[in-house]
Amino acid sequence: MKVSVIGMGAVGTETVRGLMNMPEIREIVAINRTRAKAEGDIEDLHHVTALCGAYGSTPRVGDYPDLAGSDVVVVTAGTYPRPGGSRDDVLEANCAIVREIIVEAERYSPEAIVLIATVPVEVTTQVALNHTGFRKGHLIGSGTLIDTMRLVRLISDQIEIDPGSVFGYVIGEHGRTALIPWSVCRVCGMDVDTYCRLNRVGPFDKDLMRARMLEAGHSIFSKKGYTNYGVSAAICRIVRAIALDERAVLPVGTLLEGEYGVDGVVMSVPCVIGRDGVERIIECDLSDSEIEQLNTSAEHIRQLVVVAESRELQAN
Ligand SMILES: NC(=O)c1ccc[n+]([C@@H]2O[C@H](COP(=O)([O-])OP(=O)(O)OC[C@H]3O[C@@H](n4cnc5c(N)ncnc54)[C@H](O)[C@@H]3O)[C@@H](O)[C@H]2O)c1
Repeated sequence: MKVSVIGMGAVGTETVRGLMNMPEIREIVAINRTRAKAEGDIEDLHHVTALCGAYGSTPRVGDYPDLAGSDVVVVTAGTYPRPGGSRDDVLEANCAIVREIIVEAERYSPEAIVLIATVPVEVTTQVALNHTGFRKGHLIGSGTLIDTMRLVRLISDQIEIDPGSVFGYVIGEHGRTALIPWSVCRVCGMDVDTYCRLNRVGPFDKDLMRARMLEAGHSIFSKKGYTNYGVSAAICRIVRAIALDERAVLPVGTLLEGEYGVDGVVMSVPCVIGRDGVERIIECDLSDSEIEQLNTSAEHIRQLVVVAESRELQAN
């Protein structure tokens, strides 16, 4: 399998490093606006293979024509919000970057599955869909898989149990309107309240848990100026599901067309991921209030897409 990564910053380099450890990836191409930066990183990563050995081939630096034949194109190019700002602050700049990249991806690799991590990720994914002919299952946002990872870790830390025994999702938006559907969250097969009651675990504050989940990215950002390991792990997990045709169910950004009462908006919901990208959307048995919250989240994303597209029109 050939994977190309566009945007060799903190997220892109860590993603390439993760892909190098996957035996099913035989070819990795790294593309960056400043080519020298990508060359430096790839040289550095090349030397790593002398010790641990890369299972696949050593990554190489490329330009857009080198996207040809990619099975997966990962987009990690973009800018960051200022400290204390919101992901929505970089809407215009990042949508412009993704538009530029997606056109090149379609030109050179129209059959690829494109996985976008650039924030605000549901909006950039929808803008990419609007501006290309990629079919919807082949355009995926990394979405709330990272938030889901954080939630599972936070719950497992709080109740002092291995994360493998905790099941749950964060859905909707990778941002402020993200929703935790507690009705599908399970600890050892039980809902959280039942688990805590039967196992004499102290009070479990769901609002506080959501606040901590939402705060996780800001906390890391305020300390080191960027976040990269979590999202890169999420990207590699999605690529692996594609490479191995796993049919893994992961919460990723995809275009909803009536599911959960939402139509025409990219949102993160549990999806079956296999060799053909998003092969199916899973509908969970959400409560009425969770459906309502998801629709509020959809409205927020829809409005941001309208803003992004109208600014594009003004710019032209
Ligand atoms: N979805 C998530 O969960 C998540 C998490 C962390 C970061 N991000 C986002 O990922 C993006 C990258 O983050 P980062 O920390 O790697 O940033 P970074 O500044 O370290 O790197 C961005 C890289 O993209 C390159 N770039 C910019 N425009 C380009 C273009 N048109 N073509 C090719 N390369 C281009 C830059 O040269 C730079 O090397 C940001 O938008 C960030 O907000 C998303």
